[in-house]
Amino acid sequence: MAEFDILVTGGTLPDGTRADIGITGATIAAVGDLSGSTAGTEIDATGDLVSPPFVDPHFHMDATLSYGTPRINASGTLLEGIALWGELKSSTTVDAMVDRALAYCDWAVSLGLLAIRSHVDTCDDELKGVTAMLEVRERVKPYLDLQLVAFPQDGFFRDPTARANTLRALDMGVDVVGGIPHFERTMDEGRASVRALCEIAAERGLLVDMHCDETDDPMSRHIETLAYETQRLGLNGRVAGSHLTSMHSMDNYYVSKLLPLIAEAEITAIPNPLINIVLQGRHDTFPKRRGLTRVKEMHAQGITVGWGQDCVRDPWYSLGTGDMLDVAFMGLHVAQMTAPEEMRRCFDMVTTENAAILHLDGYGLAEGNTASLVVLDAGDPIEAVRLRPDRLAVISKGRVVSTKARNDSQLTLEGRPPSVRRRHSA
Ligand code: FE2
Repeated sequence: MAEFDILVTGGTLPDGTRADIGITGATIAAVGDLSGSTAGTEIDATGDLVSPPFVDPHFHMDATLSYGTPRINASGTLLEGIALWGELKSSTTVDAMVDRALAYCDWAVSLGLLAIRSHVDTCDDELKGVTAMLEVRERVKPYLDLQLVAFPQDGFFRDPTARANTLRALDMGVDVVGGIPHFERTMDEGRASVRALCEIAAERGLLVDMHCDETDDPMSRHIETLAYETQRLGLNGRVAGSHLTSMHSMDNYYVSKLLPLIAEAEITAIPNPLINIVLQGRHDTFPKRRGLTRVKEMHAQGITVGWGQDCVRDPWYSLGTGDMLDVAFMGLHVAQMTAPEEMRRCFDMVTTENAAILHLDGYGLAEGNTASLVVLDAGDPIEAVRLRPDRLAVISKGRVVSTKARNDSQLTLEGRPPSVRRRHSA
């Protein structure tokens, strides 16, 4: 018989096993049958899914919750979004960015989203976004891991001070090197930006996460350069390619050569299905392309693929909730991942696979790991993706940071017994 600070009893883990979880301090002290144990706080998770926390590998926290400021994106395109963000960032303040970001972090925590990789714009001589996000990273540290990517939004070469400002941002403590080769003026400059930014990462021992080929142009092939530079500089396993949407329209023979190169370089891929389905294909009539990269084909090559959120109520996307299950739900549909093991994998893609992309330490429901988890009102991962259910309890680093009362209220339909429930496992 053991004594814990927190004991979560009777839950079903994502692999289907039933286990109690005992927490001491900020660490998972025991996982298994802990009957007879006591704890200061006990959470009954019988019949509920107990998962490691959600992880978002791609977000823009400096822009979030700014929808409509100063205007909305009328065309709905990536390029108008970038122009609109340019208007906003010149007029906004550090304090406004901090306030919006902290509000979003509250949403995230309530949904069990406890680790976020956010790109932060470094094309601003005042580095307002960098200053704001570094402050946010410190303030949320006790309950949310925020990883920042130096992102030269207006182009590493296209913007005259982007190089100097990106280096300044890294000096200030931004964690990861980003880029946007498809937005440079030419393909050649795009290639050169990938090379230069990877060299900066290699010199400084940093991870890389580049917006790459976020276009419908089948000839946008910066992912090939990213794979080449990764190998040349020995960055294997430390580089992510975000979006990769052009791959949806690339020639099939070319892709059959490209995917093994990505696998060989151990590059991870981060499609962002809510945004890709909305922004891409805007220049098409019909047939209209879906705009998502080749997820199942990358899986078949052993490439790690995570689902990212990208945007919530900002110049590029007017909706969004911060719920990674919304992201998994959309990704499942657009990628047609409808076999049971594929639906199940969509849940892993917003938990364990995203955690691997971020190189998170101590992640997962095992003894000795960080005591962070979420209790969901669902029976298993597929049901969680289907229902996007209530997060009944969220524990971060050994503290209960969010709870929601179980909603047992029954729906009453005329002429039906009063017991309609959406859960199949309840
Ligand atoms: Fe992005």
